[in-house]
Amino acid sequence: MSYKIAVLPGDGIGPEVMREGTQVLNQAAKLHGFKVELEEGVVGGASIDAHGKPLTDSVLKLTKESNAVLLGAMGGPKWDGLDYSIRPERALLALRQELGLFANLRPVKLFSALASASTLKKEVVEGTDLLVVRELTGGIYFGQPKGVTKLPDGTERGVNTEVYTTPEIERIAVVAFEAARKRRRKVTSVDKANVLEVTELWRKVVTRVHKEKGYDDIQLEHVLVDNCAMQLIRDPKQFDVMVTTNMFGDILSDEAAMLTGSIGMLPSASLGGKVGMYEPVHGTAPDIAGQDKANPLATILTVAMLLRHSLDQNEAADRIERAVEAVLNGGYRTLDIQEKDCRPVGCKEMGRLVREKIEASKG
Ligand SMILES: NC(=O)c1ccc[n+]([C@@H]2O[C@H](COP(=O)([O-])OP(=O)(O)OC[C@H]3O[C@@H](n4cnc5c(N)ncnc54)[C@H](O)[C@@H]3O)[C@@H](O)[C@H]2O)c1
Repeated sequence: MSYKIAVLPGDGIGPEVMREGTQVLNQAAKLHGFKVELEEGVVGGASIDAHGKPLTDSVLKLTKESNAVLLGAMGGPKWDGLDYSIRPERALLALRQELGLFANLRPVKLFSALASASTLKKEVVEGTDLLVVRELTGGIYFGQPKGVTKLPDGTERGVNTEVYTTPEIERIAVVAFEAARKRRRKVTSVDKANVLEVTELWRKVVTRVHKEKGYDDIQLEHVLVDNCAMQLIRDPKQFDVMVTTNMFGDILSDEAAMLTGSIGMLPSASLGGKVGMYEPVHGTAPDIAGQDKANPLATILTVAMLLRHSLDQNEAADRIERAVEAVLNGGYRTLDIQEKDCRPVGCKEMGRLVREKIEASKG
């Protein structure tokens, strides 16, 4: 079996963490008897510098012709002054739209070795293992009308519109219920149905999908977004799969990320179209770029998600996740998760340690 993977390292720490991620991917392929053909493309700020735009047609074509896309991160202070239409982050939005990636999966799992690295109490976060399913191509980030207009009295009026249609809600609800079936069989749907009509529709459709599409083995609960934000901090272990709109998911998944101690630990997958796109949750971390300080584990765990969701290589994915856990249990830490009495390592060394554990473990 041979798979083509588009590798888009991006900017800042993107290329550093991607080097460790792709080495793990090549190693997993070798150990588990499949082939990966990695083809690299330039995106984000690097693409603006080289081609004057954040995403070229040839890179877009490469992603569409691949089995999966592995992405680093894009952006940085160098490009912050540019117009929104050509900012590095536009490439991300364009890729999501072009590839039809309507479902963003962000697992938030606390490795027990890191329980005291969180800003919350150990007894609150220990055992946290939840999955945020965020709708990614609809809602207020894309709804029309939007913009800022001048009013006759000289003041301005800004508008964004939260829009969801029945099919958009149905398909994301199905993703959440299917994911829950492979986990602890509970879905929490998050909305603001007491105030926003659009999320009243969200609640109605999620309830109907649950009832009519054969998901009666899954427990479904509805929670208002403000209460959800509070519950995430109060008792994160109550959640299994959380499904929500684009904007609520954006905010809640960053909040949930902090339960694990560092954004440098979190992988994500964007699914829905023919090609899945996989990226660490963090950005380009310009403050530590080029210093071998970045944590590559988010990218390495992202590779595991790619293997599981796009290549169906579950054993290889499990093996990578076990190796990450073993390295953390061994007391090795990058700067972002450094604790007393732990062994400090850089990005390259952390990658090497994970590969060593993968090699030593059984498939
Ligand atoms: N998906 C993406 O491409 C994406 C996502 C978020 C931010 N960004 C861009 O990245 C740039 C910086 O954004 P930011 O500072 O808000 O967020 P960031 O995630 O890049 O950094 C936030 C903090 O976390 C630290 N950090 C992040 N990843 C780390 C890792 N792997 N190891 C160790 N420490 C890590 C950074 O050093 C920084 O202190 C901006 O240009 C932003 O637009 C891109």
